[in-house]
Amino acid sequence: MSKKILILAGDGIGPEIVAEAIKVLEAVRARFGLDLTLEEALVGGAAYDACGHPLPEETLAAARTADAVLLGAVGGAKWEPLPIAVRPEKGLLGLRAGLGLFANLRPAILYRQLADASSLKAELVAGLDILIVRELTGGIYFGEPRGVTRQESGERRGVNTLVYTESEIRRICRVAFDVARQRGKRVCSVDKANVLECTELWREVAADVARDYPDVVLSHMYVDNAAMQLVRAPKQFDVMVTTNMFGDILSDAAAMLTGSIGMLPSASLNADGQGMYEPIHGSAPDIAGKGIANPLATILSVAMMLRYSLHEPEVAQQIEAAVSRVLDQGLRTGDIMSAGMRQVGTAEMGDAVVAALVQSG
Ligand code: NAD
Ligand code: IPM
Ligand code: MN
Repeated sequence: MSKKILILAGDGIGPEIVAEAIKVLEAVRARFGLDLTLEEALVGGAAYDACGHPLPEETLAAARTADAVLLGAVGGAKWEPLPIAVRPEKGLLGLRAGLGLFANLRPAILYRQLADASSLKAELVAGLDILIVRELTGGIYFGEPRGVTRQESGERRGVNTLVYTESEIRRICRVAFDVARQRGKRVCSVDKANVLECTELWREVAADVARDYPDVVLSHMYVDNAAMQLVRAPKQFDVMVTTNMFGDILSDAAAMLTGSIGMLPSASLNADGQGMYEPIHGSAPDIAGKGIANPLATILSVAMMLRYSLHEPEVAQQIEAAVSRVLDQGLRTGDIMSAGMRQVGTAEMGDAVVAALVQSG
């Protein structure tokens, strides 16, 4: 049976990077005989402009029936004056909530060819392979009450609420322990349990889940220290599990260790294994339309899609190997450029990955 992939290009560099990911999907379809049907729909600012809402009903319905969703990025200055409820970002959050994508896997892996592009010294990042497991449908992003109200004094008051139930914490910790079992067998749970009761509960539940995984070592770290440790000695980490907002922030920091935010893919999974795949970066308004964005995070997100939703781990590996070969050839987009390499644009990078795939094996 054909697998349906819903493509949501979004805004800014979204359409540019997604175009390269589609080339890769089409190349693997031909090369490995995969039966894939690609369908496109609107999300984010593009959807707001077309129909007044960042997540049209037909887009959510199409996502629900898809085997996997590939998303570029959403947002931009043009839509910033809009109320939060109809901002492009709300489209993305609506997809995550609507599909129940509570588990966000963000691997920060250093391709050895990019050691010079990392903002840390090469020896600190050589062999780096961290997996950040970010809770994605709860916490302060979704907690109630929220909003801005005017008090009797006339002063305005802004509120967001950090809230987690025990079961929400338990299920994301289970994902972290399950993946840790497949790799370094260490989980670091990141919280702010010294100040926030909600994450004191997080710490307790993480410790409780750990009892079911005697083969995995659990440690706890406060988020401020974790941010510092990530740039001091990142290789101490194997799997990190944390809340929605802490995971958002820590994964951007971890991205720079690998050379660029343009290198970090992600998978957002629900309890049925259905997934949405997207780079962790945004719509990069400062470089949109110039054809210079790095498409590798999106292409590597396609690899994650093949691994987690389409059950084609060998094909996933072929894509990752093709990316590595292109880096071996010395091709670099501006964000990962270093001395002696050849700078290329978005499309040339995508074409090079396709060429490396076609030649493989
Ligand atoms: P951003 O990630 O878009 O950009 C931060 C910096 O990284 C910019 O200098 C940008 O040029 C650079 N960058 C990002 N991706 C790159 C790539 N593939 N290649 C080369 N350089 C790249 O973050 P921001 O500027 O804070 O946000 C811009 C907009 O994107 C906002 O509207 C924000 O809400 C949105 N956003 C969306 C997502 C998403 O759709 N998943 C994620 C983050 C931010
Ligand atoms: C991300 C983004 C989103 C987030 C925004 C655009 C809603 O920053 O995917 O990391 O905060 O989750
Ligand atoms: Mn983010």
